[in-house]
Amino acid sequence: FDQVSFLQCFSLHPLQSNSTSKSITTRKDPTYISLLQSSIQNLRFLNTSSPSPQLIVTPVNPSQIQAAIVCSQKLGVHVRVRSGGHDYEGLSYVSQMPFIIIDLRNMRSVEVDVEKESAWVETGATLGELYYAISQKSKVLGFPAGSCPTVGVGGQVSGGGFGTIFRKYGLAADNVIDAKIVDVNGKVLDRKAMGEDLFWAIRGGGGASFGVIFAWKFVLVPVPPTVTVFEVGKTIEEDATMLLYKWQNVAHKLHEDLFLHAVTGVVTSSSSLANKTISISFGGLYLGKIEKLLPSIQESFPELGLTRESCTEMSWIQSVLYFAGFSQDGSPEVLLNRTQSSRSFFKAKSDYVMEPISQTALQGLWNKLIEDETSYLILTPYGGVMSQISDSATPFPHRGGNMYQIQYMVTWDSEEENNQKINWMRELYDYMAPYVSRFPRAAYMNYRDLDLGRNYVINTTYAQASVWGLKYFRGNFKRLVKVKTASDPANFFWNEQSFPVLSPGR
Ligand code: FDA
Repeated sequence: FDQVSFLQCFSLHPLQSNSTSKSITTRKDPTYISLLQSSIQNLRFLNTSSPSPQLIVTPVNPSQIQAAIVCSQKLGVHVRVRSGGHDYEGLSYVSQMPFIIIDLRNMRSVEVDVEKESAWVETGATLGELYYAISQKSKVLGFPAGSCPTVGVGGQVSGGGFGTIFRKYGLAADNVIDAKIVDVNGKVLDRKAMGEDLFWAIRGGGGASFGVIFAWKFVLVPVPPTVTVFEVGKTIEEDATMLLYKWQNVAHKLHEDLFLHAVTGVVTSSSSLANKTISISFGGLYLGKIEKLLPSIQESFPELGLTRESCTEMSWIQSVLYFAGFSQDGSPEVLLNRTQSSRSFFKAKSDYVMEPISQTALQGLWNKLIEDETSYLILTPYGGVMSQISDSATPFPHRGGNMYQIQYMVTWDSEEENNQKINWMRELYDYMAPYVSRFPRAAYMNYRDLDLGRNYVINTTYAQASVWGLKYFRGNFKRLVKVKTASDPANFFWNEQSFPVLSPGR
């Protein structure tokens, strides 16, 4: 890679402003390592053996993105695009080929238009920055994206994006009404210029296959001035298995104003033979006050035993703090912090459940989880508006028919544990095969998992890529491949799970 030529090409680009030097960080710069590492979430990829970029471009305006794309192609260097750096498999900052990173951290303005109930958001913003900006302008507007405030708007929204109000308002991607992208030709395109096919593809198909999305226009959604959060925790000894069994049948049918997820954890127990047990926390958000929530839950899920004492009323932005693990009474400014307070090594996978899992099978699942006390599951109920949106409205196909999604997670602290932990996760996934969706066994693209399949070479065939593509996108995979073929025929935006390009005539 000829770095000098790249720098020259970049600074001479006709659209370039004269702030080049600040926008490119090379390996020689003292800030290179901290810039590279600061938004890496999975410590598996924060080590000296992971391939690192030749340089990092941190554009301050769209023309610098255009210059980076044009010059990378001219000099034959590969590009990775990073917004929040939360990719589970590190695809936004690791590549086996010589590469540069375009990191959007300096393009993160959020312009909220309260009257029109919309916002233009640059993709380098985090969800926390987005939520904070909305809350500064209105107490009764919100946005239905994920719970973790450090996640980037770029990656999350292009892969779907769900959170505590998605049963009422759908995914983040469902609420995009315009976008701006730099395509493979270095052109800036908005919705009108890119056309409806590409606009469809980037709202759930992941942005990385198609170009650099640098802004989204969102519809903001109404939230009541008072919402209620609640939590009930039970261990297996306290009949949590029966409760979860019941939850499976109830949670996806609840009113769309009510979100009730279940999070398992391994805890020590004096009353269990193994000295360890599973606890399940049933936590939720209700878009309204306690007095309406209690009778409604009493009717639909009396076994939960929800009492007034387990409920707290607050504003929507306080609920954002609460679900992010902060005190709801603290300042919302913590949402502006772009770095996670704690990071770990992790491996995750996902599944979709369409039939209730029996209590016997759940018991087998607990036996497996108890083997690793850093493991946990997050079970997210679907239903509500998610079942009313058609499977092909966006590339995200997991709509009607899904009762809930499972995220499996295991974490650890040192590189030596990598193989053992990853193998354990694969065993857990094998155990669950009979109980979850099949043909294909579906998965959520934003919980990226390279075990599902990957492109080893640039010209992967349609059949080879279908192995992972049908799991993430089901019936939408073919259309995504066609959009990819039309928008990036030379497959410049390649990665281990980018869409293949069809050969001419197919
Ligand atoms: P990152 O920058 O790593 O990008 C991810 C992918 O998108 C890469 O392929 C990258 O190249 C591409 N990309 C990023 N920006 C782009 C751009 N501007 N243009 C084109 N391509 C771009 N999900 C969810 O739905 N709900 C949730 O509540 C959570 N919670 C959560 C918590 C934590 C701690 C983690 C680590 C992850 C989640 N997620 C989640 C998953 C999350 O949505 C997923 O990892 C996103 O892809 C992360 O987006 P980032 O921009 O942070 O990642």
